[in-house]
Amino acid sequence: MKGEQDGIKALEVKAGKEISTATDLKKLDEVFRLYLGKKGRLTLFLRSLGAMSEAERKDQGKAANALRDALQIAFDSRKSELRIAAIEELEKKENIDITAPGSKLPKGHLHPLTHVQRRVQEIFQSMGFAIAQGPEIETERYNFDTLNIPANHPARDLWDTFWLKPRAADYLLRTHTSPVQTRYMEKNNPPLRIIAPGRIFRYEATDASHEINFYQLEGLMIGKEVSMANFKAIIEEFYGQFFGKNVTIRLRPSYFPFTEPSFEIDMRFGKSGWLEMMGAGMVHPNVLKSVGYIPGNWQGFAFGMGLDRLTMMKYNIDDVRLLYSGDLQFLKQF
Ligand code: DAH
Repeated sequence: MKGEQDGIKALEVKAGKEISTATDLKKLDEVFRLYLGKKGRLTLFLRSLGAMSEAERKDQGKAANALRDALQIAFDSRKSELRIAAIEELEKKENIDITAPGSKLPKGHLHPLTHVQRRVQEIFQSMGFAIAQGPEIETERYNFDTLNIPANHPARDLWDTFWLKPRAADYLLRTHTSPVQTRYMEKNNPPLRIIAPGRIFRYEATDASHEINFYQLEGLMIGKEVSMANFKAIIEEFYGQFFGKNVTIRLRPSYFPFTEPSFEIDMRFGKSGWLEMMGAGMVHPNVLKSVGYIPGNWQGFAFGMGLDRLTMMKYNIDDVRLLYSGDLQFLKQF
């Protein structure tokens, strides 16, 4: 008798522990079957009561039934605990936190030429220059005639031109941004100061310093007394701001059909070197006439610089073709 009592006690302790430490529903189910299933230990014990003496049965039966009820309650409560835990676990896995920051998508950025063009515009705008634009498909008239470069004039050979079909003689891809000068002056009265950035085209072989298309920035300032001295001051100020330090420039006599006198502007680099930076000069009277200005009343300077050259200097790029290569390994550096 005493032994069976101990047996029940031992079952109670053992089953209680196994129920409370079952880590998931499947394990709990196994524990349930082990004690309360058809062939469970407590079930078998309860069945064996019939073979006992009445006194024994009364004693043991009461304890065993009480245990069965207690275990059932313990099972039920552990079961709901594990169920909640399982649901929480699932929610954790499937939960989408809509307040969490999203993953970053790869994003493009501005081309180095665009950076340079914007910076140059900013500097000239701060000196009162407006931004003007003209078409990339130009007419012979604006690209050449109004700029004092008549048909059959040998100066036309200075620009290797892409002529456009079918009207081969009239339309072309502009070889410089200078036509924006006369387009603008035709529509606006002096005094004026503008810059005109844009893409231009040349029919020539490419190499590290030549492209068939590149970018120029034209400048034009017209007034009553605008002089080359004004030009020099403005350009020195521009380079100073652009390169972030004072630079030395020199004006070297040159030839352009649309300016008189004409200059090439060199910038000092290193101890004894000079870099060719742009063409410039006083606007030719014939150009002023072509747009209806009276040359005796108005005068001014014009200049044209390569934006590719500036970009290459600023970022230490040694081949202009890289700027048009679309090579991401190159572009990602900027
Ligand atoms: N249009 C010239 C070229 O493409 C550059 C130039 C030179 C522009 C002198 C000017 C200028 O406005 O005055 O080579």
